[in-house]
Amino acid sequence: MEQFGFYAPTRIEFGTGVSGRIANEVSALGASRVLVITDKGILASGMVEPLLRQMEQSHITITLFDAVKSNPRDIDCHKAAALGLEAKVDLVLAIGGGSPIDTAKAVAALITNGGEVKDWVGEQKLHHPTLPLICIPTTAGTGSEVTMFAVITDAEQNLKTCIADTLIAPALALVDPGLTMSLPPLLTASTGIDALTHAIEAYTCNLHNPVSDALALKAISLICQNIRQAVEQGENLEARSNMMLGSLLAGIAFGNADVAGVHCMAEAIGGLYDIPHGIANSILLPFVMEYNIPAALERHAEIGRAMGVAPASMPDHEAAAAAVEAVKKLSLDLEIPRFKDLPNVNPDDFNLLAARAAANISAPSNCRPAGEKEYYELFFKAYRG
Ligand SMILES: [Fe+2]
Repeated sequence: MEQFGFYAPTRIEFGTGVSGRIANEVSALGASRVLVITDKGILASGMVEPLLRQMEQSHITITLFDAVKSNPRDIDCHKAAALGLEAKVDLVLAIGGGSPIDTAKAVAALITNGGEVKDWVGEQKLHHPTLPLICIPTTAGTGSEVTMFAVITDAEQNLKTCIADTLIAPALALVDPGLTMSLPPLLTASTGIDALTHAIEAYTCNLHNPVSDALALKAISLICQNIRQAVEQGENLEARSNMMLGSLLAGIAFGNADVAGVHCMAEAIGGLYDIPHGIANSILLPFVMEYNIPAALERHAEIGRAMGVAPASMPDHEAAAAAVEAVKKLSLDLEIPRFKDLPNVNPDDFNLLAARAAANISAPSNCRPAGEKEYYELFFKAYRG
């Protein structure tokens, strides 16, 4: 067995109601002036208000930034950091899905390191520790509450960029499945497929290790056994909890392995067309899996078995094919939009998208080498459906 390392710096508190500990946890981290980062949809859902009230009752000063959009932009990070600096905040709290969490990571870094997002894009570029960060995820998908990555769109170029730094890993994740109960069906489905993509890419990428493998396989099982119920019966707490756990495990897995070709392509189309991240992954996942099977047949067969669509006795090539078909069927059943049905998508852009996918920080992690030509063909395959 080859040597490997494993890094899990975020303390995790998991379970229905754990978000109610927020005031105590802020105080335990020695903080009293909190910058809360969320979006208007989460704010309108009513789940933020009780958390703010509880902190105020504990004499914690709140500064609120609620202007995060999906595919979060660098210019909003700069505004939020300026707000936080002016209020002299000593902790950042993210409440929401991947967009508020990734924004909060960048903001916590900007407040102590200065500069702009583009100054810190890349691996291990930060000079100083960030402000402490607490994350309360409200979707079962991103896994960002336990990773050291922040994916932020350069608004001038409509280009997704990534800050990858151990210093931006959150100090604490309060993972409360109860907060996902009111998530609408399409958002539950698309964020759930994002989590499934994290697990599949962590398991098949070149940087996987035995610990990330175990987490990824468990995540694949949990997600595939529960995603339909979570979408169809939003009030099913057991399904919601299992999805949240699956998303969390997948986050720890890809945080210690990597994502791969699906995310390289999804980030390209997310940046250019502002397509929700989970939908972008769902459109691309089966086609990249199909492409990757020759390089990792056994692993794709294991994915089929973990999904519950291939019995142990099924030969590897059939089990791997069953996994691809099951992923396609899942997106259809969950009524996730198809690539060609999305607004603004134009095949004339596929050269640019392929170049961006090939240049992604995670491109070398894909188990089967792929360059611009291969990504271009994969974009067309996905477009034809
Ligand atoms: Fe993702």
